[in-house]
Amino acid sequence: MFFTPLLFLQEMGVEGRLRLVMESALTARDRVGVQDFVLLENYTSEAAFIENLRRRFKESLIYTYIGSVLVSVNPYKELEIYSKQHMERYRGVSFYEISPHIYALSDNTYRSMRTERKDQCILISGESGAGKTEASKKILLYYAVTCPAHDRMAALGDRLLQSNPVLEAFGNAKTLRNDNSSRFGKYMDVQFDFRGAPVGSHILNYLLEKSRVVHQNHGERNFHIFYQLLDGGEEDLLKRLDLERNPQNYQYLVKGNCPRVSSINDKNDWKAVMKALPIIGFTEEEVQELLNIIASVLHLGNTQFGEGEDGETHITTETQIRNLTRLLGVDGSALREALTHKKLIAKGEEMISPLNFEQAGSARDALAKAVYGRTFTWLVEKINQSLALKVYNSSKGSSVIGLLDIYGFEVLQHNSFEQFCINYCNEKLQQLFIELTLRSEQEEYETEGIAWETVQYFDNKIICDLIEEKHKGIISILDEECLRPGEACDISFLEKMEDTLGGHPHFITHKLANGKTRRIMSREEFRLLHYAGEVNYNVSGFLDKNNDSLYRNLKEVMCQSSNQIVRQCFRKEEVIDQKRPEMAATQFKNSLMKLMEILISKEPSYVRCIKPNDAKQPGRFDEVLVRHQVKYLGLMENLRVRRAGFAYRRRFEAFLQRYKPLCPETWPNWHGRLADGVSTLVNHLGYKPEEYKLGRSKIFIRFPKTLFTTEDALEAKNCVGYNTCWYVSYIVIVIQSAWRGMKARRRAKRRRQAAELIRRFIKGFIYRHEEYCPENEYFLDHVRYSFLKKLRKNLPKSVLDKSWPTPPPSLIEASEHLRWLHMQNMMRKYCRRIQPEWRKQMEQKVVASEIFKDQKDSYPQSVGKLFLGTRLENEQINLKVIQTLGNDKVQYGVPVTKYDRRGFKARPRQLLLTSSFAVLVDRTKIKQRIDYPALRGISLSSLRDGIFVLHLPNEGQQQKGDVVLHCDHVIEAVTKFAMMSGRTNHVNISLGSIRFALARGKEGIVDFIRGSELKVAKGKRGHLLVVSQG
Ligand SMILES: Nc1ncnc2c1ncn2[C@@H]1O[C@H](COP(=O)(O)OP(=O)(O)OP(=O)(O)O)[C@@H](O)[C@H]1O
Ligand SMILES: [Mg+2]
Repeated sequence: MFFTPLLFLQEMGVEGRLRLVMESALTARDRVGVQDFVLLENYTSEAAFIENLRRRFKESLIYTYIGSVLVSVNPYKELEIYSKQHMERYRGVSFYEISPHIYALSDNTYRSMRTERKDQCILISGESGAGKTEASKKILLYYAVTCPAHDRMAALGDRLLQSNPVLEAFGNAKTLRNDNSSRFGKYMDVQFDFRGAPVGSHILNYLLEKSRVVHQNHGERNFHIFYQLLDGGEEDLLKRLDLERNPQNYQYLVKGNCPRVSSINDKNDWKAVMKALPIIGFTEEEVQELLNIIASVLHLGNTQFGEGEDGETHITTETQIRNLTRLLGVDGSALREALTHKKLIAKGEEMISPLNFEQAGSARDALAKAVYGRTFTWLVEKINQSLALKVYNSSKGSSVIGLLDIYGFEVLQHNSFEQFCINYCNEKLQQLFIELTLRSEQEEYETEGIAWETVQYFDNKIICDLIEEKHKGIISILDEECLRPGEACDISFLEKMEDTLGGHPHFITHKLANGKTRRIMSREEFRLLHYAGEVNYNVSGFLDKNNDSLYRNLKEVMCQSSNQIVRQCFRKEEVIDQKRPEMAATQFKNSLMKLMEILISKEPSYVRCIKPNDAKQPGRFDEVLVRHQVKYLGLMENLRVRRAGFAYRRRFEAFLQRYKPLCPETWPNWHGRLADGVSTLVNHLGYKPEEYKLGRSKIFIRFPKTLFTTEDALEAKNCVGYNTCWYVSYIVIVIQSAWRGMKARRRAKRRRQAAELIRRFIKGFIYRHEEYCPENEYFLDHVRYSFLKKLRKNLPKSVLDKSWPTPPPSLIEASEHLRWLHMQNMMRKYCRRIQPEWRKQMEQKVVASEIFKDQKDSYPQSVGKLFLGTRLENEQINLKVIQTLGNDKVQYGVPVTKYDRRGFKARPRQLLLTSSFAVLVDRTKIKQRIDYPALRGISLSSLRDGIFVLHLPNEGQQQKGDVVLHCDHVIEAVTKFAMMSGRTNHVNISLGSIRFALARGKEGIVDFIRGSELKVAKGKRGHLLVVSQG
């Protein structure tokens, strides 16, 4: 039987069909261009590079690799490639098995961090609007979704994602090049614990473009937050802040003449920010204070000055000052004074001098910039506190992935101080890139045992030195010029540079240039020959921007603010400290140095973003613009370094796995050493020695052509084996589906049974109080069964254990029966185990209980004490007495005290019991014999005393009367006496006095009272008085 693929698809059903289509889309290489530039045949050709980019871009394939560098072209449209399913596809999959993607890079970085235990960083660069921030957000989202969540830090991912809208509201703005342009550089560390769960994060921010607060180019806007507040803020809030909805009413928002942007919804963004702030940990109060500051900046912008007749400057807009005073909580007159006067310290003395009209405007703008800039830094710190690692011990064995989203090389029509800093930053990053890439390449060659071939590359150290070198570099010259007493200005700075740097191969000015260049350069410009190309910088504004100074008295006013955020931004120490703070460029240089230190300690990955057109349009690929970026991003240089020597390298096992069908010796499996397998394979394929090298674990292929030929051969082979392949696949699928079907049917049957059982159970529960019937039989049986099972486990273990599980209502009677049976059983077992000695003891104790229980106070104490066999051993009984008794053996003897019938004198006696009579013995003599049948009874009191009276017959002349005795073991003695004499029913416990017979029909009385100690004595009226204890 032979199946065509079509028939086969029809046979498979929907689920199977979907699976196949999906997997082929996944595993097939992109057929458009090359997905890794290192495979470009003509890798030195910029045109070939751009053509590859263009071809892929047209097919919406926006990602391409240069080795491990990811090049990303902004599609300017939503692509269906960022879903959760896509994330799953890229998890744990090797870089090369699947189309290039930002998720592949994210996953690879994450896995390197986990397996190599080395900190990682992802450097994202590109020009404004190229998609850096979007890329960084996608990376973060990937980690938030795919990484395991720490139980106590589940909210971290949330806070991490929520920090984005806040940072963007305060740090992003609409520019001509990007509607959501980040106006600051951002480095974010995400910390993962030993299980790979994100546990903390930290953000470093760089060089916020503060000048935007007071001025925007035409078509651009201020930072988003201002427009969001005006558009989205509730009426009450605006009223409190004394703001109006129309942005055109604010001087700081009108410069660009662009209050609305179609791609931005300020109202929604405002809601997102207000929702995010509490999640990040802002208190209600902090949010209010933050908004007060934002409103204050707007009021500051509307603060206007007038010029008096004598040229003095005064404030003409009192409302603004009142608002500022209220919102910032500062002193109104001090603020008024500080905005129109400057305070300087010269030779240790304070000097106050009035500001002219322009100076006052500049001071106001400087204040606005400082307030906004510092608030932004505060905001980042606040976010950091919220994202900080808080779980104790999580830092153990933790690793970090850093994300750098920083401005790419910037070349505008008019380049100023900001571009100078940005481009300097890119020089440093390029330097780092070259160093790290070359280092890792060299290390790989070394570990693989392949000779290193020197790579020609441009070392940009010379440019970095030109900018940052101490004393001689541009930044040093700029600082010096700012600090120099006298008339320093931007032009004098330019001249100073010409003096110091003239002749440097990477520095030119109008004066130093040759005729041709001179013609296109203005006199205020200097040109730097960056690694990526030439850039002309206009020196105008350099000194001011580098100074970034704020008059002392303005700082003083801010220090006094009652707004906590402002207070934290303007510290008192700053005013007290006479030392001048570092200049802006030096600050930037130092923070860059620190950043470099951070990055160099990590394993880097790169995302290079490219913007395809200036119109933000999907599908448009402007070649000139792209070429410009390829150049400025140094991509050709990247490629050259990466292609040093070999175009392609792969681990032996991966190479063998893929291409083993091409060689009969390696197909279907190679059982020898991997290196030998690869060697056999490439020999069979006819690779020439100069085309490849075998390292220790990898094969290195020099030319892409070689690889492509092999790949084509594989494809051809696959086509030949196509039908067989499908057939085998079909058989496999039939077996799989039969097996899965069987398993599923079994599972379904079990489920059905379970459902039926649950249903019966529920019905039974509802009918549980009814008679036993079909509806409740299962439930009741189950209840009974459960009770019996429970009972079996919890049966009482001893006769004294009175516990018993509570039975269900239907089993109460049966439970009682069982309880009785169990008790009987236990008792029987118990009795069977009893020894004769113990039995006797028990019998006596039972009799004692019958006689005395609840009758005599001293009984309870006697229960725990064993009855002894006798209290008088044979040696203690006089021999004569024993001889007199003859065959009547003493069964029990106990010392007693006998009280005379008259006078109640106490006399020590021994009471001896034989099997048929008792005797009272006085040392050697038997004083009285009491035959058991003659005993009429025994009387005792109910109290705690040892008195007992033996009632004897009183008829007859010889009878002396009853006997009054005292014994320390009265319960024991009387019990034994009663048992031996068979008079257990004649023991009388008297609640009051005991009457006893005297000779000749007379009667004596024993009275009992309670007292502190036992006493027996003659009492009133000739009675015997017994004081019982207790
Ligand atoms: N992968 C993408 N898919 C869809 N649209 C994208 C993508 N990347 C970027 N964009 C679009 O391009 C715009 C600009 O991107 P983004 O803000 O990331 O640029 P940027 O490089 O950070 O610029 P800047 O330096 O000005 O901050 C985004 O607002 C978005 O509309
Ligand atoms: Mg950005």
